Amino acid sequence: MIKKIGILTSGGDAPGMNAAIRAVARAAMSKGMEVYGIRRGYVGLINGDIFEMNARSVSDIIHRGGTMLFTARCPEFRTEEGVEKAKETCEKLGLEGIVVIGGDGSFRGAADLSSKGILCVGLPGTIDNDIACTDYTIGYDTAMNTAMEMVDKLRDTSQSHDRCSVVEVMGRNAGYIAVNTGIACGAIEVITKERPYDLDAIAKKMLETKKNGKENFVIIVSEGVGHANEIAQVIQEKTHIESRATILGHVQRGGSPTLRDRVIATKMGYHAVQLLSQGIGNRVVGIQKDEVVDFDIQEALSMKKPYEDELHTIAEELAL
Ligand code: ADP
Ligand code: F6P
Repeated sequence: MIKKIGILTSGGDAPGMNAAIRAVARAAMSKGMEVYGIRRGYVGLINGDIFEMNARSVSDIIHRGGTMLFTARCPEFRTEEGVEKAKETCEKLGLEGIVVIGGDGSFRGAADLSSKGILCVGLPGTIDNDIACTDYTIGYDTAMNTAMEMVDKLRDTSQSHDRCSVVEVMGRNAGYIAVNTGIACGAIEVITKERPYDLDAIAKKMLETKKNGKENFVIIVSEGVGHANEIAQVIQEKTHIESRATILGHVQRGGSPTLRDRVIATKMGYHAVQLLSQGIGNRVVGIQKDEVVDFDIQEALSMKKPYEDELHTIAEELAL
Protein backbone atom coordinates (compact mmCIF):
# COMPACT_ATOMS: atom_id res chain seq x y z
CA MET A 1 0.00 0.00 0.00
CA ILE A 2 1.49 3.33 -0.98
CA LYS A 3 1.44 5.94 1.78
CA LYS A 4 2.46 9.27 0.26
CA ILE A 5 1.53 10.84 -3.04
CA GLY A 6 2.06 14.21 -4.70
CA ILE A 7 -0.13 16.19 -7.13
CA LEU A 8 1.04 18.68 -9.74
CA THR A 9 -0.44 20.65 -12.63
CA SER A 10 1.74 21.27 -15.69
CA GLY A 11 1.59 23.03 -19.08
CA GLY A 12 -1.33 25.34 -19.89
CA ASP A 13 -3.96 25.62 -17.16
CA ALA A 14 -7.53 24.51 -17.76
CA PRO A 15 -10.79 25.03 -15.86
CA GLY A 16 -11.49 21.91 -13.81
CA MET A 17 -7.88 21.33 -12.77
CA ASN A 18 -8.87 22.41 -9.25
CA ALA A 19 -11.72 19.91 -9.19
CA ALA A 20 -9.22 17.20 -10.19
CA ILE A 21 -6.77 18.26 -7.46
CA ARG A 22 -9.57 18.12 -4.90
CA ALA A 23 -10.70 14.67 -6.04
CA VAL A 24 -7.18 13.25 -5.95
CA ALA A 25 -6.41 14.77 -2.55
CA ARG A 26 -9.66 13.70 -0.88
CA ALA A 27 -9.72 10.21 -2.43
CA ALA A 28 -6.16 9.62 -1.26
CA MET A 29 -6.86 11.00 2.22
CA SER A 30 -9.88 8.78 2.56
CA LYS A 31 -7.56 5.83 1.90
CA GLY A 32 -5.27 7.05 4.67
CA MET A 33 -2.55 8.37 2.36
CA GLU A 34 -0.53 11.52 3.01
CA VAL A 35 -0.96 14.01 0.17
CA TYR A 36 1.49 16.68 -0.98
CA GLY A 37 0.83 19.59 -3.31
CA ILE A 38 3.67 20.37 -5.71
CA ARG A 39 3.77 23.98 -6.94
CA ARG A 40 4.36 24.98 -10.57
CA GLY A 41 4.52 21.53 -12.10
CA TYR A 42 7.91 19.91 -12.60
CA VAL A 43 9.62 23.13 -11.43
CA GLY A 44 8.32 22.48 -7.90
CA LEU A 45 9.27 18.84 -8.08
CA ILE A 46 12.84 19.73 -8.99
CA ASN A 47 13.14 22.56 -6.45
CA GLY A 48 11.20 20.91 -3.63
CA ASP A 49 8.42 23.54 -3.61
CA ILE A 50 6.04 21.10 -1.96
CA PHE A 51 3.59 21.29 0.95
CA GLU A 52 1.51 18.81 2.87
CA MET A 53 -2.22 19.03 2.19
CA ASN A 54 -5.18 18.29 4.40
CA ALA A 55 -8.89 18.05 3.60
CA ARG A 56 -9.27 21.82 4.02
CA SER A 57 -6.41 22.60 1.62
CA VAL A 58 -8.79 21.79 -1.22
CA SER A 59 -11.92 23.48 0.18
CA ASP A 60 -13.57 26.19 -1.91
CA ILE A 61 -11.73 25.36 -5.10
CA ILE A 62 -14.07 23.03 -7.01
CA HIS A 63 -15.85 25.98 -8.67
CA ARG A 64 -12.74 28.00 -9.48
CA GLY A 65 -10.82 28.14 -12.75
CA GLY A 66 -7.03 28.12 -12.86
CA THR A 67 -5.04 25.86 -10.59
CA MET A 68 -4.37 26.36 -6.88
CA LEU A 69 -1.05 24.53 -7.42
CA PHE A 70 0.05 27.00 -10.13
CA THR A 71 1.46 25.66 -13.36
CA ALA A 72 4.60 26.14 -15.40
CA ARG A 73 6.61 24.92 -18.31
CA CYS A 74 9.89 23.43 -17.15
CA PRO A 75 12.62 23.02 -19.79
CA GLU A 76 14.96 21.47 -17.18
CA PHE A 77 12.64 18.50 -16.82
CA ARG A 78 13.33 17.58 -20.43
CA THR A 79 16.90 16.72 -19.40
CA GLU A 80 18.18 13.57 -17.66
CA GLU A 81 19.56 15.71 -14.79
CA GLY A 82 16.18 17.39 -14.30
CA VAL A 83 14.34 14.08 -14.05
CA GLU A 84 17.04 12.75 -11.70
CA LYS A 85 16.63 15.79 -9.42
CA ALA A 86 12.85 15.27 -9.37
CA LYS A 87 13.35 11.63 -8.44
CA GLU A 88 15.68 12.66 -5.59
CA THR A 89 13.01 15.08 -4.27
CA CYS A 90 10.47 12.25 -4.31
CA GLU A 91 12.84 9.94 -2.46
CA LYS A 92 13.71 12.60 0.11
CA LEU A 93 10.03 13.19 0.92
CA GLY A 94 9.03 9.55 0.52
CA LEU A 95 6.64 10.34 -2.35
CA GLU A 96 5.88 7.04 -4.00
CA GLY A 97 3.29 8.24 -6.49
CA ILE A 98 2.59 11.45 -8.44
CA VAL A 99 -0.59 12.52 -10.19
CA VAL A 100 0.31 14.75 -13.14
CA ILE A 101 -2.53 16.91 -14.51
CA GLY A 102 -1.62 18.32 -17.92
CA GLY A 103 -1.31 17.58 -21.62
CA ASP A 104 0.83 15.35 -23.84
CA GLY A 105 4.07 17.14 -22.96
CA SER A 106 3.42 16.67 -19.26
CA PHE A 107 2.73 12.97 -19.86
CA ARG A 108 6.09 12.57 -21.63
CA GLY A 109 7.67 13.94 -18.46
CA ALA A 110 5.57 11.56 -16.36
CA ALA A 111 6.79 8.63 -18.46
CA ASP A 112 10.40 9.67 -17.80
CA LEU A 113 9.78 9.89 -14.07
CA SER A 114 7.96 6.56 -14.11
CA SER A 115 11.04 4.95 -15.65
CA LYS A 116 12.93 6.05 -12.51
CA GLY A 117 10.59 4.00 -10.34
CA ILE A 118 8.12 6.71 -9.25
CA LEU A 119 4.50 5.69 -9.90
CA CYS A 120 3.01 8.40 -12.13
CA VAL A 121 -0.58 8.70 -13.28
CA GLY A 122 -1.56 11.39 -15.81
CA LEU A 123 -4.92 13.16 -15.97
CA PRO A 124 -5.70 14.93 -19.27
CA GLY A 125 -6.05 18.63 -18.45
CA THR A 126 -6.17 20.94 -21.45
CA ILE A 127 -8.84 23.04 -23.12
CA ASP A 128 -7.77 21.74 -26.55
CA ASN A 129 -9.19 18.18 -26.24
CA ASP A 130 -6.17 17.03 -28.23
CA ILE A 131 -5.40 13.92 -26.17
CA ALA A 132 -6.18 10.78 -28.11
CA CYS A 133 -6.89 8.29 -25.33
CA THR A 134 -9.87 10.25 -24.02
CA ASP A 135 -13.09 11.56 -25.49
CA TYR A 136 -12.91 14.62 -23.23
CA THR A 137 -10.14 16.50 -21.53
CA ILE A 138 -10.58 18.54 -18.36
CA GLY A 139 -11.33 22.16 -19.35
CA TYR A 140 -12.59 21.52 -22.88
CA ASP A 141 -16.28 21.88 -22.08
CA THR A 142 -15.79 25.13 -20.17
CA ALA A 143 -13.61 26.59 -22.92
CA MET A 144 -16.19 25.76 -25.59
CA ASN A 145 -18.97 27.30 -23.52
CA THR A 146 -16.90 30.44 -23.00
CA ALA A 147 -16.19 30.65 -26.73
CA MET A 148 -19.89 30.17 -27.47
CA GLU A 149 -20.92 32.95 -25.08
CA MET A 150 -18.38 35.32 -26.58
CA VAL A 151 -19.47 34.56 -30.15
CA ASP A 152 -23.12 35.08 -29.15
CA LYS A 153 -22.18 38.56 -27.94
CA LEU A 154 -20.30 39.26 -31.14
CA ARG A 155 -23.30 38.14 -33.15
CA ASP A 156 -25.44 40.80 -31.42
CA THR A 157 -23.20 43.57 -32.62
CA SER A 158 -22.69 41.97 -36.06
CA GLN A 159 -26.45 41.80 -36.45
CA SER A 160 -26.86 45.49 -35.63
CA HIS A 161 -24.26 46.50 -38.20
CA ASP A 162 -24.87 43.88 -40.92
CA ARG A 163 -21.31 42.73 -40.48
CA CYS A 164 -19.26 39.58 -40.59
CA SER A 165 -17.46 38.54 -37.40
CA VAL A 166 -14.33 36.47 -37.89
CA VAL A 167 -13.54 34.85 -34.54
CA GLU A 168 -10.32 33.02 -33.75
CA VAL A 169 -10.60 30.36 -31.06
CA MET A 170 -7.83 28.38 -29.34
CA GLY A 171 -6.90 24.76 -29.94
CA ARG A 172 -3.13 24.65 -30.54
CA ASN A 173 -3.11 22.22 -33.48
CA ALA A 174 -6.62 20.89 -33.10
CA GLY A 175 -9.93 22.12 -34.49
CA TYR A 176 -12.23 20.59 -31.86
CA ILE A 177 -13.08 23.87 -30.09
CA ALA A 178 -13.58 25.57 -33.46
CA VAL A 179 -15.93 23.03 -35.03
CA ASN A 180 -18.09 22.68 -31.91
CA THR A 181 -18.29 26.44 -31.39
CA GLY A 182 -19.11 26.83 -35.07
CA ILE A 183 -22.03 24.42 -34.77
CA ALA A 184 -23.25 25.97 -31.51
CA CYS A 185 -23.15 29.50 -32.92
CA GLY A 186 -24.51 28.79 -36.39
CA ALA A 187 -21.35 29.92 -38.17
CA ILE A 188 -21.42 30.30 -41.93
CA GLU A 189 -17.96 28.70 -42.02
CA VAL A 190 -15.52 26.91 -39.75
CA ILE A 191 -11.86 27.05 -40.71
CA THR A 192 -9.62 24.40 -39.15
CA LYS A 193 -6.28 22.78 -39.95
CA GLU A 194 -7.97 19.44 -40.50
CA ARG A 195 -9.83 20.56 -43.65
CA PRO A 196 -8.71 22.57 -46.63
CA TYR A 197 -10.49 25.87 -47.06
CA ASP A 198 -10.95 28.35 -49.85
CA LEU A 199 -11.69 32.01 -49.12
CA ASP A 200 -13.14 32.52 -52.63
CA ALA A 201 -15.66 29.75 -52.01
CA ILE A 202 -16.51 31.14 -48.57
CA ALA A 203 -17.09 34.62 -50.04
CA LYS A 204 -19.26 33.13 -52.77
CA LYS A 205 -21.35 31.26 -50.22
CA MET A 206 -21.80 34.42 -48.14
CA LEU A 207 -22.99 36.38 -51.17
CA GLU A 208 -25.43 33.64 -52.13
CA THR A 209 -26.93 33.56 -48.63
CA LYS A 210 -27.06 37.37 -48.65
CA LYS A 211 -29.26 37.15 -51.72
CA ASN A 212 -31.62 34.99 -49.64
CA GLY A 213 -31.78 37.67 -46.98
CA LYS A 214 -28.90 36.75 -44.64
CA GLU A 215 -27.44 39.96 -43.26
CA ASN A 216 -24.81 39.03 -40.69
CA PHE A 217 -22.21 36.31 -40.56
CA VAL A 218 -19.93 34.44 -38.18
CA ILE A 219 -16.77 32.68 -39.33
CA ILE A 220 -14.89 30.62 -36.74
CA VAL A 221 -11.15 30.19 -37.29
CA SER A 222 -9.04 27.77 -35.34
CA GLU A 223 -5.78 29.12 -33.90
CA GLY A 224 -2.80 28.57 -36.16
CA VAL A 225 -4.70 28.17 -39.45
CA GLY A 226 -4.44 31.75 -40.55
CA HIS A 227 -4.66 35.20 -39.04
CA ALA A 228 -8.20 36.26 -38.21
CA ASN A 229 -7.37 39.86 -39.14
CA GLU A 230 -6.12 38.89 -42.59
CA ILE A 231 -9.06 36.57 -43.19
CA ALA A 232 -11.51 39.35 -42.20
CA GLN A 233 -9.78 41.73 -44.58
CA VAL A 234 -9.91 39.30 -47.50
CA ILE A 235 -13.56 38.44 -46.81
CA GLN A 236 -14.41 42.15 -46.75
CA GLU A 237 -12.58 42.76 -50.04
CA LYS A 238 -14.25 39.81 -51.74
CA THR A 239 -17.79 40.35 -50.44
CA HIS A 240 -17.95 44.07 -49.61
CA ILE A 241 -19.50 42.96 -46.32
CA GLU A 242 -17.91 44.90 -43.49
CA SER A 243 -15.87 42.43 -41.45
CA ARG A 244 -14.22 42.53 -38.04
CA ALA A 245 -11.79 40.10 -36.46
CA THR A 246 -11.75 39.04 -32.80
CA ILE A 247 -9.14 36.81 -31.22
CA LEU A 248 -10.69 35.27 -28.11
CA GLY A 249 -7.33 34.19 -26.66
CA HIS A 250 -6.74 33.30 -23.03
CA VAL A 251 -10.23 34.22 -21.86
CA GLN A 252 -11.04 30.66 -23.02
CA ARG A 253 -8.66 29.22 -20.42
CA GLY A 254 -10.35 30.89 -17.45
CA GLY A 255 -13.64 30.90 -15.62
CA SER A 256 -15.63 28.67 -13.36
CA PRO A 257 -15.63 25.10 -14.74
CA THR A 258 -18.89 23.73 -16.11
CA LEU A 259 -20.67 20.86 -14.38
CA ARG A 260 -19.33 18.49 -17.01
CA ASP A 261 -15.71 19.52 -16.42
CA ARG A 262 -16.10 19.24 -12.64
CA VAL A 263 -17.64 15.78 -12.87
CA ILE A 264 -15.11 14.51 -15.43
CA ALA A 265 -12.22 15.89 -13.37
CA THR A 266 -13.60 14.27 -10.24
CA LYS A 267 -14.13 10.86 -11.85
CA MET A 268 -10.65 10.90 -13.35
CA GLY A 269 -9.00 12.10 -10.13
CA TYR A 270 -10.75 9.41 -8.12
CA HIS A 271 -9.66 6.75 -10.63
CA ALA A 272 -6.03 7.89 -10.49
CA VAL A 273 -5.98 7.24 -6.75
CA GLN A 274 -7.51 3.78 -7.19
CA LEU A 275 -4.63 2.95 -9.55
CA LEU A 276 -1.94 4.31 -7.25
CA SER A 277 -3.43 2.54 -4.23
CA GLN A 278 -2.97 -0.75 -6.13
CA GLY A 279 0.64 0.14 -6.87
CA ILE A 280 -0.13 0.85 -10.55
CA GLY A 281 1.75 3.68 -12.29
CA ASN A 282 2.85 4.82 -15.76
CA ARG A 283 -0.81 5.26 -16.77
CA VAL A 284 -2.95 7.99 -18.33
CA VAL A 285 -6.62 8.17 -17.35
CA GLY A 286 -9.33 8.96 -19.87
CA ILE A 287 -13.07 8.84 -20.49
CA GLN A 288 -14.37 6.75 -23.37
CA LYS A 289 -18.11 6.44 -23.97
CA ASP A 290 -18.70 7.70 -20.43
CA GLU A 291 -16.51 4.98 -18.89
CA VAL A 292 -13.32 5.85 -17.05
CA VAL A 293 -10.40 4.02 -18.66
CA ASP A 294 -6.61 4.04 -18.35
CA PHE A 295 -3.70 3.28 -20.65
CA ASP A 296 0.04 2.82 -20.51
CA ILE A 297 1.54 6.30 -21.03
CA GLN A 298 3.51 5.36 -24.16
CA GLU A 299 0.49 3.66 -25.65
CA ALA A 300 -1.65 6.73 -24.88
CA LEU A 301 0.94 9.02 -26.49
CA SER A 302 1.07 6.91 -29.65
CA MET A 303 -2.70 7.04 -30.24
CA LYS A 304 -4.22 9.26 -32.93
CA LYS A 305 -7.45 11.11 -32.31
CA PRO A 306 -9.81 11.39 -35.26
CA TYR A 307 -11.12 14.84 -36.17
CA GLU A 308 -14.84 15.51 -35.82
CA ASP A 309 -15.26 15.31 -39.55
CA GLU A 310 -18.95 14.51 -39.49
CA LEU A 311 -19.66 17.53 -37.29
CA HIS A 312 -17.72 19.72 -39.72
CA THR A 313 -19.80 18.37 -42.61
CA ILE A 314 -23.01 19.09 -40.70
CA ALA A 315 -21.83 22.65 -40.03
CA GLU A 316 -21.21 23.13 -43.76
CA GLU A 317 -24.53 21.63 -44.83
CA LEU A 318 -26.54 23.77 -42.47
CA ALA A 319 -24.84 27.02 -43.45
CA LEU A 320 -27.36 28.12 -46.06
P1 ADP B 1 1.24 20.15 -22.12
O1 ADP B 1 1.46 19.22 -20.98
O2 ADP B 1 0.01 20.98 -21.95
O3 ADP B 1 1.32 19.46 -23.46
P2 ADP B 1 3.91 21.28 -22.56
O4 ADP B 1 4.12 20.60 -23.85
O5 ADP B 1 4.29 22.71 -22.40
O6 ADP B 1 2.37 21.25 -22.09
O7 ADP B 1 4.66 20.41 -21.46
C1 ADP B 1 4.62 20.76 -20.08
C2 ADP B 1 5.91 20.36 -19.43
O8 ADP B 1 6.09 18.94 -19.52
C3 ADP B 1 7.17 20.92 -20.08
O9 ADP B 1 7.46 22.23 -19.68
C4 ADP B 1 8.23 19.94 -19.60
O10 ADP B 1 8.58 20.21 -18.25
C5 ADP B 1 7.48 18.63 -19.64
N1 ADP B 1 7.74 17.97 -20.93
C6 ADP B 1 7.24 18.29 -22.13
N2 ADP B 1 7.74 17.49 -23.11
C7 ADP B 1 8.60 16.66 -22.49
C8 ADP B 1 9.46 15.60 -22.93
N3 ADP B 1 9.52 15.25 -24.21
N4 ADP B 1 10.21 14.96 -22.01
C9 ADP B 1 10.16 15.31 -20.70
N5 ADP B 1 9.38 16.28 -20.22
C10 ADP B 1 8.62 16.97 -21.09
O1 F6P C 1 -2.90 24.09 -24.79
C1 F6P C 1 -3.75 25.09 -24.34
C2 F6P C 1 -3.45 26.37 -25.04
O2 F6P C 1 -4.29 27.35 -24.49
C3 F6P C 1 -3.55 26.33 -26.56
O3 F6P C 1 -4.88 26.38 -27.00
C4 F6P C 1 -2.70 27.51 -26.93
O4 F6P C 1 -2.13 27.33 -28.20
C5 F6P C 1 -1.62 27.49 -25.90
O5 F6P C 1 -2.12 26.78 -24.79
C6 F6P C 1 -1.18 28.86 -25.44
O6 F6P C 1 -0.22 28.70 -24.48
P1 F6P C 1 0.46 29.89 -23.63
O7 F6P C 1 0.08 29.63 -22.21
O8 F6P C 1 1.91 29.70 -23.83
O9 F6P C 1 -0.05 31.20 -24.15
